[in-house]
Amino acid sequence: MLTQDQLKLAVAKKALEFVPEDAIIGVGTGSTVNLFIEELAGIKGRIKGAVSSSEASTARLKAHHIPVFDLNEVEKLPVYIDGADEINHHLHMIKGGGAALTREKIVAGVADEFICIADEQKYVAMLGTFPLPIEVIPMARSYVARELVRLGGHPELRQGVTTDNGNVILDVHGLQIMKPVELEEIINHIAGVVTCGLFARRRADVLVLGKQSGVEVLR
Ligand code: 5RP
Repeated sequence: MLTQDQLKLAVAKKALEFVPEDAIIGVGTGSTVNLFIEELAGIKGRIKGAVSSSEASTARLKAHHIPVFDLNEVEKLPVYIDGADEINHHLHMIKGGGAALTREKIVAGVADEFICIADEQKYVAMLGTFPLPIEVIPMARSYVARELVRLGGHPELRQGVTTDNGNVILDVHGLQIMKPVELEEIINHIAGVVTCGLFARRRADVLVLGKQSGVEVLR
């Protein structure tokens, strides 16, 4: 029986197959991506560098002497490699467990292909068991929370967390997300919401899924 960490390592290694030669690639955030960065360090001579989705990943990339580019300097990212908190068979995701959702969504938006690396515990029939993270401008926190209650959720302020952009995170419990694309739009239209952790409009293109039976690649 492989542990969750062993499955994360297996997908981190497999993700190297999706790294194009001589390119700048997008790199996400989280414990699975941390393992991927370790693997990337072993082939760093093959890429030009990376655009990072968080201060934490930037620090790790730099510690391995992998050049980190500002997104504004880069016109094209062939791939963005990142984890997820939940992912369904449409490759819609919940992200933001590491509070990096806004920068993740921006970098993913630029990339031609989103490669999601996840272990099988993240692969779900319906999104919503993992509380949905929402990045919110601090002064709008209570208003946005009331609006989320109207949508049937139970928002909780993530204690002690300020995002890289200086905002707060509301984690919304109790949502059964049957229509991820629609819900993403509705939440993103509440004034004061910076980004909702649903990645449905920009879903993953490829899922590298770590299972007990081996690593599967789903499209
Ligand atoms: C960070 C994220 C991560 O991709 C997500 O939380 C998965 O993390 P991990 O690989 O540690 O399970 O969205 O904001």
